[in-house]
Amino acid sequence: MAPLAARSVPLVGDLLAFRRDRLVFLTRLAREQGDVARFRIGPYRVWQLAHPDLVHDVLVTHAARFRKGPVLQRARLVLGDGLLTAEGDHHRRHRRLLNHAFHPDRITEYAAVMVDRAAATSNTWVEGTPIDVHAQTVRMTLGSAGVTLLGTEVEADVDLIESAIEDLLSAYQLAFVPFGWRLQHVPVGPARRLRRGRTALHGLVDRAITERRTSGHDTGDLLSSLVLAEPPGRLSDDEIRDEALTLLLAGHETTANALAFCLHLLAQEPEIEARVHAEVDTVLDGRRPTADDRDRLPVCRGVFAEALRLFPPSWAMGREALTDHPIDGHEGKVVRAGEVVVAPQWVIHRDPRWWEDADRCDPDRWLPNATTTHPRSAFFPFGGGARQCIGEGFARTEGVLALATITSRWRLRPVPERPLELEPLITLRPRNGLWLRPERRAI
Ligand code: HEM
Repeated sequence: MAPLAARSVPLVGDLLAFRRDRLVFLTRLAREQGDVARFRIGPYRVWQLAHPDLVHDVLVTHAARFRKGPVLQRARLVLGDGLLTAEGDHHRRHRRLLNHAFHPDRITEYAAVMVDRAAATSNTWVEGTPIDVHAQTVRMTLGSAGVTLLGTEVEADVDLIESAIEDLLSAYQLAFVPFGWRLQHVPVGPARRLRRGRTALHGLVDRAITERRTSGHDTGDLLSSLVLAEPPGRLSDDEIRDEALTLLLAGHETTANALAFCLHLLAQEPEIEARVHAEVDTVLDGRRPTADDRDRLPVCRGVFAEALRLFPPSWAMGREALTDHPIDGHEGKVVRAGEVVVAPQWVIHRDPRWWEDADRCDPDRWLPNATTTHPRSAFFPFGGGARQCIGEGFARTEGVLALATITSRWRLRPVPERPLELEPLITLRPRNGLWLRPERRAI
């Protein structure tokens, strides 16, 4: 097979190979060029850093040399200056304001809503009838994010939000096409869909803000605390909308994908599934899980961690260099200002140098007394440094408690005629759904 660089084409560079299969492209790049690899996508000169220490340098040690990469820069068109896309002082100030909503005590309060949503959604399943588990987990996590963060039942808006997200994802390709971003003003194709999605989402969140301001009622959620805050810490309505929309979008699809991949792994691995069932039966004994159970469910936690490792919802993170960045230990190799760095979870999470039997799902890696070890920064599903995911505790709690809720009632079997296909866009998600057949467990 020809090396990647040989296929680089003027103007678009490696864009075609990248687009054909992004995961295979990044994996091959690491195999062919090693820990420090170069390629070009459309207008961008890109470095892939496939070593945990080099990623740590970019995300933590020298984070000030970088800003977010092209995809998140483009996402500002929809998310404005929300936490995920904001930079500098604005980001620091808003992160301080939002941190309290993610304090462990608050997450403990949110746990009951998460379990309710998981139980209510899985109660609609019919024995033997295949379901798109991804669509189901999206419904669960969107519902709980709506209530805990916006204080709003978004159940009726699930279809609107999902189709708005589809509209936004269809514009992902614009991030890399030469001059593609100028197409955002064109009234057809992905650009038109992007604007349609943005209008729908802004309308939804604006309505929630207006309702809260009109009622003046504190419902204990994040939106109440932002809308009803007193000056000087008070944000404008536009700033609140950007934050609320960011949390709604960043806070549900990622967790939904991880949860769907957990169920996929269990359907593939009957022995691990049997251990999960034994654990939930012993610990829960027929009742619903609570926040206190998180620590009593190590096998469920291990399966969730394995889903994050093997199918990281954030499959590759991008950064653009603001100043030159000499790559440590690689003399003469310097990321120049304006060039892009990719830190690929997909590649590092499956690298046999850090993971024994890397492609195998093994929840025991995560037990407190695990015998195998890995460098800490070889696992970074939630990023790192000052921009590390604010919702990590939220996601881990929801992932483990929803998994326990579902597996205490259901066993999910593969549907061989609908094998899993992956679709790496802004998040790594199943293409055309993740189909499994529910069987009610006899307890
Ligand atoms: C399994 C689930 C999740 C995964 C894998 C995930 C992954 C990530 C990653 C990798 C980043 C860093 C992005 C970067 O530095 O460029 C991030 C940031 C962020 N995530 Fe998550 N996330 C998850 C769940 C959540 C949840 C539940 C919420 C909110 C309820 C959330 C809200 C955010 C926000 C607001 C940021 C930006 C933080 C900042 O820059 O200060 N995420 N997430």
